[in-house]
Amino acid sequence: MRNDVNRRWLLASRPAGVVGEENFRWSEEPIPVPGEGQVLVRNLWLSFDPTQRNWMARDTYVPMVRIGEPMRAASIGQVIESRHPGYKAGDLVRGAFGWQDYTVTDGSGFLGLSKLAPGVLPNVALNLFAATGLAAYFGMLEVGQPKPGETVVVSGAAGATGSIAGQIAKLKGCRVIGTAGGKLKCDWLTTEAGFDGAIDYRSEDLPARLGELCPDGIDVFFDNVGGPVLNEVLARLRSKARIALCGAISRYNDATLQPGPSNYFNLVASGSRMEGFLVFQYAGRFAEASTVLAGWLRDGLLKHKEDIEIGLEKAPKTLAKLFTGENFGKQLLKIADPPLQPG
Ligand SMILES: NC(=O)c1ccc[n+]([C@@H]2O[C@H](COP(=O)([O-])OP(=O)(O)OC[C@H]3O[C@@H](n4cnc5c(N)ncnc54)[C@H](OP(=O)(O)O)[C@@H]3O)[C@@H](O)[C@H]2O)c1
Repeated sequence: MRNDVNRRWLLASRPAGVVGEENFRWSEEPIPVPGEGQVLVRNLWLSFDPTQRNWMARDTYVPMVRIGEPMRAASIGQVIESRHPGYKAGDLVRGAFGWQDYTVTDGSGFLGLSKLAPGVLPNVALNLFAATGLAAYFGMLEVGQPKPGETVVVSGAAGATGSIAGQIAKLKGCRVIGTAGGKLKCDWLTTEAGFDGAIDYRSEDLPARLGELCPDGIDVFFDNVGGPVLNEVLARLRSKARIALCGAISRYNDATLQPGPSNYFNLVASGSRMEGFLVFQYAGRFAEASTVLAGWLRDGLLKHKEDIEIGLEKAPKTLAKLFTGENFGKQLLKIADPPLQPG
């Protein structure tokens, strides 16, 4: 099963607008050989995250990907050969192995190297127990601080992060309204994910629908999107509301920065708080959050949804899906099955 080349997608140029296949270059190279203290990993699953668009264009909480390097991605792989005392051939591992078949690593660098917990499926590991599920957990509970009976709005609600964030607010006894693109996603929110209401921001009148579904205002807003929905929510804040800024995907492809939300002064008038957060700020508590999320999952209290593409060659097109809304659920790509019996 060991291919004799390492197929890779390298970053070819920095996107000026919408990210596309032209920003990457396909390359086939020899399979790397692990040195002392390193493992050779066969990459099996890739996670697709809107923040990858940021990694291509600018330094953020991690340095941007360098031109000519494989595109960075959270991944799950299998150790094929080990010269590292902590790992053996067959171990299923997680890290940031990138858009390529193979990599060698000593476990240093972004996302490090760790063994996949026994019995956890790769699709769940890269969704619920990775940046998306953990951002939903900490963003909603620590930043949003929802209380029973409160009204919570989630944007990008049918996505990986938003769908979990909204369900957590439901578990805390809130009334939860989501915004999402299209009837299919909105129907899923109310029939499957347990949301109290959903607004199709693409075809419905967003301000009017927010007014209908949140007649007494909004206590917590978990924002994945930014732009018009943030501005409309700012106009409807209840006293002491909390806005958890998780992301702003509507802005990631902008070539120039747009003006900020004009309704921001309502933060002053309502005595509210708007706070950004990065999931990695809570790294010391990931184990605790994973235990709670696993419990909710086991008890049938959380729905998770994945959108799975197959084949490394599809990686650039798969990334682009996040920005058109073509993905429905956590976007993943499966490269291969484990070549060895998992250890
Ligand atoms: N702060 C953190 O630590 C952290 C961690 C993880 C993720 N995030 C952020 O969370 C957000 C969601 O990420 P995810 O991985 O869960 O992705 P996702 O929601 O599963 O997928 C992205 C979704 O964004 C929506 N979208 C794309 N362009 C849009 C636009 N112009 N206006 C409105 N919606 C648009 C699309 O849904 P529709 O079909 O509904 O439009 C698309 O399906 C992103 O902003 C991401 O950067 C932050």
